[in-house]
Amino acid sequence: MNKKIKQILLKKNKSKIVSLTAYSKNIAKILDKHVDIILVGDSMANVLYGHKNTHRITLENIIQHTLSVKMGVKKSLLVVDMPKGSYNNFQSAKKNAILIMNTTKCDAIKIESNKKNYKIIESLVKKNIPVMGHVGYTPQFKKKFKIEGQTRLEMSKLLKEAELIQKAGAFCIVLECLSPSAAKLITSRLSIPTIGIGSSAHCDGQILVTDDMLGLSGFYPKFVKKYAKLDRIIEKAIKRYTRAVKLKKFPTINNYLDGPKRRK
Ligand code: KIV
Repeated sequence: MNKKIKQILLKKNKSKIVSLTAYSKNIAKILDKHVDIILVGDSMANVLYGHKNTHRITLENIIQHTLSVKMGVKKSLLVVDMPKGSYNNFQSAKKNAILIMNTTKCDAIKIESNKKNYKIIESLVKKNIPVMGHVGYTPQFKKKFKIEGQTRLEMSKLLKEAELIQKAGAFCIVLECLSPSAAKLITSRLSIPTIGIGSSAHCDGQILVTDDMLGLSGFYPKFVKKYAKLDRIIEKAIKRYTRAVKLKKFPTINNYLDGPKRRK
């Protein structure tokens, strides 16, 4: 088994698993020093490409961004989202997962559950492709956002779904927008780690979309805590630069390539 995956599994019931998304090398390089898992999420559709949902992100988009992210990753587990439509049947799932793994040298892929694709997960795991599952709000398959697992019946259905994903061989599972009780139940019943987003502190780990928590995306639902307001910091820098250019204060002789303080 991949050593990094082993380390993630060992954290269950011991220490929290920290995870964030990245779509480029510069961000990945910073995350890599601190987090356990970096996900190249199809959330890039909303965050980078301005789409209304994640559906139009292609395999090429995902691979291109993962190649960039990979350049910044040394120690974290690198997981890549399989885009919508890329794992509809055994053949395409296998072909596309192998393409992602071989081209990008990532550690694992993530598949959203549609409550039917357990055998697809199983077939990939049998081919030695590590799979992260994803239940609850699964944007590739659900049109409307809703907190899942609010009734006993919903909770037991979600538990069953998560158990089938575990049985299929997934090494860990994302719980997106589940009620705290559902997240607690699933986390206590599964032997694989649960990674929550909008699903309370009961999960074994947490994931957020990096651009959201940095205050860059403009998308701030209640479950996102803004750890920085990078939009404001960037705007201030852009304003200073604009002003300097207009006032002819930039570039100065220090910035001339043959000037006195040329950087080596
Ligand atoms: O695409 C993504 O970023 C995700 C996370 C929100 C879990 O799937």
